[in-house]
Amino acid sequence: MTAVRLANPLLEPASRSLPRHVAVIGAGTIGPDIAYYLKSAVPGLRLTLVDIRQEAIDAAAARLREYADKAVARGKLAAPEAEALLRDLDGATDYDAVGGCDWVLEAATEDLALKRRIFADVEARVAEDAMITSNTSSLPAARIFAGLKHPGRATVTHFFAPAWRNPVVEVIDWARADPALVAWLRRFFAATGKVPLATADAPCFMLDRVFDNWCNEAAMLLECATAAEIDSVAGEFVHAGPFFVLNLAHGNPIIVETNTLQAGEEGDHYLPAPIFRSVECWATCAPGRPVAVAEATRARIRDRLLGVLLSQTVDILDRGIGEAADLDLGCRAALGFKRGPLELMDALGDAETSRLLERLSRERPGMPVAKRPLAAYPPRWRHVLVDDLGDVRVITLRRPEALNALHDEMTGEILDAIRAGEHDAGIAGFVLTGYGTKAFCAGADIGRFPSMLGDAGASVQYARACSRLLVHLDAMRKPVVAALNGMALGGGFELAMRCHALVAVKGAWMQLPEVTLGILPAIGAMVVPYRRWPGAAAVFHGMLVRAERLGAERAHELGIVDALAEDLDALFAQALARAHALAGRVEPIPDAPVAVPEFDAAPARAADGRVLSATVVGVIEQAVRAAAAAPTLAAALEVGYEAFGRVACTAAAREGIAAFLERRQPDFGATG
Ligand code: COA
Repeated sequence: MTAVRLANPLLEPASRSLPRHVAVIGAGTIGPDIAYYLKSAVPGLRLTLVDIRQEAIDAAAARLREYADKAVARGKLAAPEAEALLRDLDGATDYDAVGGCDWVLEAATEDLALKRRIFADVEARVAEDAMITSNTSSLPAARIFAGLKHPGRATVTHFFAPAWRNPVVEVIDWARADPALVAWLRRFFAATGKVPLATADAPCFMLDRVFDNWCNEAAMLLECATAAEIDSVAGEFVHAGPFFVLNLAHGNPIIVETNTLQAGEEGDHYLPAPIFRSVECWATCAPGRPVAVAEATRARIRDRLLGVLLSQTVDILDRGIGEAADLDLGCRAALGFKRGPLELMDALGDAETSRLLERLSRERPGMPVAKRPLAAYPPRWRHVLVDDLGDVRVITLRRPEALNALHDEMTGEILDAIRAGEHDAGIAGFVLTGYGTKAFCAGADIGRFPSMLGDAGASVQYARACSRLLVHLDAMRKPVVAALNGMALGGGFELAMRCHALVAVKGAWMQLPEVTLGILPAIGAMVVPYRRWPGAAAVFHGMLVRAERLGAERAHELGIVDALAEDLDALFAQALARAHALAGRVEPIPDAPVAVPEFDAAPARAADGRVLSATVVGVIEQAVRAAAAAPTLAAALEVGYEAFGRVACTAAAREGIAAFLERRQPDFGATG
């Protein structure tokens, strides 16, 4: 793989402007879905769907309209936005239509000769610097682009179904691609809500090697079990079993094709199970409705499925096809695995992992085995990206599936990355930011709360443990700057407010939504802002007890945010400048007690009118007052942790957290 690549693609300055006219070739299944994503992502984009069949183009246009209507019905899009999205959308059955495009994206049938013909036709019509990408899921870029006169502007951008919603896109970093093209595509995808994963140019790239062989192994197991039994066992690891997914995707011919390709390159152990050629649809069970499976059969299926997953994992990493953290993220986000294979490996332990790999290679000779000690495979960072830009270390929170919400492991990694840099003379300071453009961090991971509700001691301990990173920041001498690339909610805002400076893009906003969940922000928000920005105390009151939002511009006026940026390039430039300016000048948070204004005696209601829990609001008000009067910052923080222990035992907390996880509004009228 190409060596120097920033882990966070948004740190790369843009080397091209946004596309104005894109053609998507192939109006079959995935082409229209990609078109919908592109139209949603780039306002004002002209998009031309090219297909040899006019009916396919008409059906695709109808599909886009259907998606837009659904988005309006679900409140995801306003009606005028939906109309704007459907504007400048046309179709053509002739390649001449691609002439003025600055990006042509091919999503036609998986056929090498056909793709080569398409690219020759396209290259004859577009400008020399127009981008050409293919959505192939298996054919190496070096092969499909072999005939191009200007291959540097071409690569594979491999989407996953459904492409308008599935966040993952593999961007293939092949030998002849211009590195600036790969960098721009990664940046473009990350800036438009996708999660680009750079991979090498191996057949089937990274994730389809996992998916195809997982499905192929499942089919091999049909000699000892039914499809329903295999899907039931697989349900321990994936949200939907392989046969269920193959039915959905009409995927049997794809496995035949891709595994034949892998077998041709890498050996007969990859040959597709013959049964794929004779079956169209599998008799299986739906996700969450497993059938009973005899124990010996279950053990065999489990071993072989896990074996193939782990075997692909070590092979992908040994060959440098992709990176470990990307593989885990991609398996979860694109393929529906409950845990990434490296997380699984970790949970299984070395002895069990070795047993599984050995069994697979015994029963399926030729399948890859680990070439290095197992300890060499896990990623150094799972939930953060770490980039050193000169003497500033940029740490990016990356949990796109939860808007970069914090959990213990992520907090631990941030702390480790900081500690390592503190001891490194080459690092002068740090920037913390969030992956993508939507969220800096959506707060603490709410999914982890139910286990501690009702247990005051455990909740206090949890809050204290979550604070480890923040307390460390308080004592640091090297500066840490929060670069708010999007929303900073709850614990995310609490993390930002402990950084030594905050910079924000203009659209960023902050909120403490905990009160709407029947809990409170325990790790500093009831304490730190009052000591650090006492002039804005009334604003923090509103944020704490009414969940009022604070926009970046207002926060700038109040002195909470030090600098505002028009866009991400400016944000990172300002964050780096700030880190340099603060070197040797970090000021601690004032330790002394502080006066706070009275809270309004208004009924417990959120800024949007929702009824809140009067009990929780009462605990927050009391904690803010007690913390303000506490003699030291440390004592004030303890007040916050203890208050969290109290609310965690209320009916309101149970109701609020349950409502979030069940995607409904909480009823605090009933809980008090
Ligand atoms: N913890 C865990 N998961 C979170 C999360 C959090 N704090 N915030 C967001 N997510 C998850 C969502 O559950 C969703 O997961 P899903 O796709 O599996 O359903 C995903 O991130 C995307 O969020 P979604 O709610 O679909 O995006 P949205 O744009 O409609 O709404 C928010 C964004 C931030 C308004 C909404 O996600 C929210 O209210 N989050 C909770 C914020 C909060 O209360 N933080 C303080 C926690 S103590």
